[in-house]
Amino acid sequence: MSVAPAIGRPEAVLAEAMAQAMRRLAKSVCIVTTRHEGQRMAMAATAIDSLSLDPPSLLVCINKTASIFPAFSAKADFNINILSQAQQHLANRCNGPVKGEARFGEGVWIDDEVPWLSDAQAVVCCRHDGDFHYGTHGVFIGRVLGVRLHGDVDPLIYADGLYGSTVLRRP
Ligand SMILES: Cc1cc2nc3c(=O)[nH]c(=O)nc-3n(C[C@H](O)[C@H](O)[C@H](O)COP(=O)(O)O)c2cc1C
Repeated sequence: MSVAPAIGRPEAVLAEAMAQAMRRLAKSVCIVTTRHEGQRMAMAATAIDSLSLDPPSLLVCINKTASIFPAFSAKADFNINILSQAQQHLANRCNGPVKGEARFGEGVWIDDEVPWLSDAQAVVCCRHDGDFHYGTHGVFIGRVLGVRLHGDVDPLIYADGLYGSTVLRRP
């Protein structure tokens, strides 16, 4: 499909064009977890990336309307649970009508101070180490405190509004 370039168009047209472009940027699906005022919280997320290895750090973008946002604003520690192919149902559970504690009703969650998924491909444990706000979202920096790995590399991919898998090749 080829469409007219949206260069220089009004903001709303650019936003729609950008959304269409981002559907072509494949992301690995994660569940962000934290604990706030004693309550466990979880949210499916793909707006996560490494920031630096020195110091080990990453960033996560969270919509201000998300129920987990107040916890991040309160500088809570958090975990990034990187899902495998077999865990699509957990991503669905952590983004739809199921809310709050009920999001932990499927999967084997370890009930530490910050909950983590026992068989996630990887769990990256983070301490809040900064944030800024831009438009509809907060951008939160996580200073990596620890990492757990489980099984083979087998990421659950999200692109064009669909879940899929990767075929890995040598460069
Ligand atoms: C695959 C996928 C990736 C998502 N990535 C993000 C994200 O990076 N940041 C975000 O704020 N919301 C993201 N969302 C949306 C949130 O998961 C969803 O809006 C949120 O759980 C709903 O908020 P609630 O917890 O208040 O119900 C994503 C949803 C899906 C299905």
